[in-house]
Amino acid sequence: MRFLSGIQPSGNITLGNYLGALKNFVKLQDNPEFDDFLVFVADCHAITVPQEKEKLRKNIKSLVALYLACGLNPKKVHIFIQSEVPAHNQLGWVLECTSYIGELERMTQYKDKKEKQVQGVSAGLLTYPALMAADILLYDTDVVPVGQDQKQHLELTRDLAERFNNKFGETFKVPKPYIAKDGAKIMSLAEPTKKMSKSDPNPKAYIALLDDINVAKKKIKSAVTDLDMKVKYDEVNKPGISNLLTILSCITGSSITELEEKYKDSNYATFKEDVANAVEAELRPIQERYNEIINSKYLDEVLDEGRDYANYLANKKIAKVYNKVGLGRKR
Ligand code: AQP
Repeated sequence: MRFLSGIQPSGNITLGNYLGALKNFVKLQDNPEFDDFLVFVADCHAITVPQEKEKLRKNIKSLVALYLACGLNPKKVHIFIQSEVPAHNQLGWVLECTSYIGELERMTQYKDKKEKQVQGVSAGLLTYPALMAADILLYDTDVVPVGQDQKQHLELTRDLAERFNNKFGETFKVPKPYIAKDGAKIMSLAEPTKKMSKSDPNPKAYIALLDDINVAKKKIKSAVTDLDMKVKYDEVNKPGISNLLTILSCITGSSITELEEKYKDSNYATFKEDVANAVEAELRPIQERYNEIINSKYLDEVLDEGRDYANYLANKKIAKVYNKVGLGRKR
């Protein structure tokens, strides 16, 4: 089975991206069910909202180093940059022409992100799901891990694959969502009813994997909670404490119930201290490994291999698609 996923280099990778996605990829790479494993840097997706050139370049490289520092093993995983495989955009265009404006306008992420744009809404923000469908369909991907927020996009990918197959004959494998058992959703530390996002303008809302350890710990200690003073999971009435419980549970592997029991007589300061220490223990080795590799040639070696492998698969597929649609000369 082929597994594929990607993260946008649209900011500092957060504890949310790590606990909700990356940490699970690292676990799944050892799952014998997956005999082909692709993880990419979704840089084309990142430019659906304004980016600064130098920052974008830095974020791309940093994300690759973080993939490796968090434990992705290039012997098992092909790591590549989306823009280095032109077939993503070639198929993206074909799928844009297969999608209807109405269905793209219905995507909640488009509606949310459009509200936040002050400098105008790019057409790419609307057509993003067609490119995401291309990312997935290009590789005959069997399994795509998705959080709740991406479920709608994956459903659209399935619709587009079926629509294309019905019109032009069997071309794409229709992918299945993979809802990870422990793929928790991590919330903002400043507004715990909102998801933690790397593009949040308030740096206190998220912990970046590369935050100075003391800064990260401080962010946990000043995370918004409530006045109830009971360490108990209750998303509706105690979103802040519930979020910290989720973070601690994802890091330590203890269940929420076990943690509630452990902290039933503790005050918030003690609880937060333990969460902060757990975050430190998780981030420190990642940062050490990151510093070792960020300026090494190793990154380029990994990316060259990933690029060549991805292009090999993707070019075969795009040639097939162009033939089915009737683009260019027959190949
Ligand atoms: N808060 C979160 N909790 C759990 N998982 C999360 N992911 C993102 N935020 C959380 C997961 O991280 C992966 C990569 O996401 P992405 O970069 O493709 O885009 P995103 O979901 O839009 O992530 P951000 O951090 O919110 O980025 P911006 O701010 O640029 O929009 C996905 O698997 C996602 O589920």
